Amino acid sequence: MREWLKKNNFLVRKIHSLLGIFPVGVFLTEHLITNSFATFGPEVYNEKIEWIQSMPYLFALEVGFIFVPLLFHALFGFVFLWAWKDNSSRYRYARNWLYTLQRVTGIIAFVFIGYHVWEFRIETALNGKPVDFELVANEMVNIRAFLFYIVGISATVFHFTNGIWSFLVHWGITVGPKSQRIAGYVCAGLGVALLYIGLDALWAFR
Ligand code: HEM
Repeated sequence: MREWLKKNNFLVRKIHSLLGIFPVGVFLTEHLITNSFATFGPEVYNEKIEWIQSMPYLFALEVGFIFVPLLFHALFGFVFLWAWKDNSSRYRYARNWLYTLQRVTGIIAFVFIGYHVWEFRIETALNGKPVDFELVANEMVNIRAFLFYIVGISATVFHFTNGIWSFLVHWGITVGPKSQRIAGYVCAGLGVALLYIGLDALWAFR
């Protein structure tokens, strides 16, 4: 495995990086926006969820466009964590801190997404429970679950939007300091917007 990884390092990193944006990041954005229908009340939310659940080939789409790419990204994310050199305490540069936070939020996102998928997708399917507004609202009554979701959503949004910044560097799209600075502002703005969308939707279930 070690030898194989060494040989294919470039390709694996490129695939890992690309999957973080498409389809995983695109799906994350869509998922946060879809859940915002909760701000219009239970009826509207349930109608949208039912529409999604009635989609043809839903299971194949979920496996092909969400689970497999996310698992690939997460598993190789853990492999790359081995090579993690933490410079954040030695150098005070913001980029070192963001590099460290990218890795820490990846681990938090893994735990959060694993729990979230188990709770609202796998366990409900196994027990034939309907997934609707009431189910989520009942969970969010519990303050510990609510706080866990705040941390999970915040970490995942940070990981994605800070990840867009490093994706642009890794793919040679932002090369100079000026374009990297502008990308930094754009990614921070996108992060704030997505965080608002995610937390506002979460609040609607309380
Ligand atoms: C919604 C889930 C996730 C999204 C949208 C996402 C997105 C991204 C993006 C866009 C990047 C930047 C790629 C680049 O620098 O070229 C990235 C990097 C990374 N991700 Fe994720 N990710 C997610 C979940 C995870 C999980 C669960 C892990 C598990 C540990 C993880 C670990 C990593 C690591 C270690 C990096 C840095 C790779 C490197 O620069 O060497 N990610 N992610």
